[in-house]
Amino acid sequence: MTTLKIHHIGYLVKKIEKAKQTFETLGYQVEQDTVRDDIRKVDICFLTKDGYRVELVSPFSEDSVVAGLLKKYKNAPYHICYEADDPEAAFRELTENGFAAIDTPTPAPALGGCNVVFLTSPVTGMIELKFR
Ligand code: NI
Repeated sequence: MTTLKIHHIGYLVKKIEKAKQTFETLGYQVEQDTVRDDIRKVDICFLTKDGYRVELVSPFSEDSVVAGLLKKYKNAPYHICYEADDPEAAFRELTENGFAAIDTPTPAPALGGCNVVFLTSPVTGMIELKFR
């Protein structure tokens, strides 16, 4: 299996400004302030602490891809994003090993326009794979 490295933990939040302040209270620092992703209809902010990166994801529309997930999970972590030296090979290997893609590789404005794809497995729930 291609080596995967954790890039961030995705965290659903209802109110991104409030969440950002609360994560700052916990000692996180804003790495990248809020960016609007019009493809997924979410606002995204990255924070870091102790070498970990958290992505706050907040839907700004009822038809956002995560509006339903936020209703179901409330404010909660919901995916881990991985990067790989060879993301195409990683994607292939993941889909051969029980992960099903739930969308196609699509640009992520909050990640400098890199493509990302979401996959799910009944064992691990949702993951994200970041392409370079
Ligand atoms: Ni993510």
